[in-house]
Amino acid sequence: MALKTRITELFGIEHPIIQGGMHYVGFAELAAAVSNAGGLGTITGLTQKTPDKLANEIARCKDMTDKPFAVNLTFLPTVNAPDYPGYVKAIIEGGVKIVETAGRNPAEVMPFLKDAGIKVIHKCTSVRHALKAQSIGCDAVSVDGFECGGHPGEDDIPNMILLPRAADELEIPFVSSGGQADARSLVASLAMGAEGMNMGTRFIATKEAPVHQNVKDAIVAASELDTRLVMRPLRNTERVMTNAAVERLLEKEKALGADLKFEDIIEEVAGVYPRIMMEGDMDAGAWSCGMVAGLIHDIPTCEELIGRIMREAEAIVTQRFGAMMGAA
Ligand SMILES: Cc1cc2nc3c(=O)[nH]c(=O)nc-3n(C[C@H](O)[C@H](O)[C@H](O)COP(=O)(O)O)c2cc1C
Repeated sequence: MALKTRITELFGIEHPIIQGGMHYVGFAELAAAVSNAGGLGTITGLTQKTPDKLANEIARCKDMTDKPFAVNLTFLPTVNAPDYPGYVKAIIEGGVKIVETAGRNPAEVMPFLKDAGIKVIHKCTSVRHALKAQSIGCDAVSVDGFECGGHPGEDDIPNMILLPRAADELEIPFVSSGGQADARSLVASLAMGAEGMNMGTRFIATKEAPVHQNVKDAIVAASELDTRLVMRPLRNTERVMTNAAVERLLEKEKALGADLKFEDIIEEVAGVYPRIMMEGDMDAGAWSCGMVAGLIHDIPTCEELIGRIMREAEAIVTQRFGAMMGAA
């Protein structure tokens, strides 16, 4: 089924399905596989330690696909600010035409991206932040509900409320993000006013995701009850898969209360991604994972996953809804 939406038109993609940037997951292999399957794949900018390394990753992705792909630029509280101007330069010189921004509003980089003709989709967790993104010239937003893997913000509004609220307020197109896994997610997102969906956790459990098999198996084994919110006292809330390190971290949060500082939990959160994603050391620390793990039961290729979503979405609309309406 071909589905034309404002998002497929904006990005020149076949299907309204986006793979969000993911630390130590969004390498060229995954981005290219998603884009080759007709979605929009995304390289995670900051996973590449320097702008030169990002330039190299962009070139590798271009060798693997002729289709559009994006680069994610995350602005998160980090100890040493990354070289954002350098990363932006690598994106522009690499000929990338789509950037996913996240963390805080991307005003500081907008003039450079816009001058280079780059489309910007900003990922945010509230209507007010989405409106801010619209006001500074973003082309689209990813509306990330409380269910999401990673940073859900501090408002705790799930997508059943957040998406229709976004639809009521926004003029620019938006995609749903957080808790999206299958055809039901896509049809529901479209029904609530989104023009497509963004998935994180679901795309980790694919054949092409270049992460350790243990990570994929952990997602398949997990239920919707297996995520926890960490760093809430620091107002840097992150939804992660539970494990020994996360339970230890939560004990520290409970014991220290309002006195908790980042340094107290550094062992559980800082620099743990390579050990988890590359080495498969699943108790090494806290890693982002969505509640949607409860809906993930297999490890397909990106082509199989996206193809299945589009086929089943058509069946929901034509058969399930069709039968209901015919019966009315
Ligand atoms: C392992 C992992 C790492 C992530 N890293 C980033 C990141 O570096 N930057 C970012 O903007 N979003 C990041 N995200 C969020 C995803 O791009 C996406 O918004 C989120 O996963 C959507 O929720 P879902 O997991 O329920 O699909 C990450 C998510 C996961 C699961």
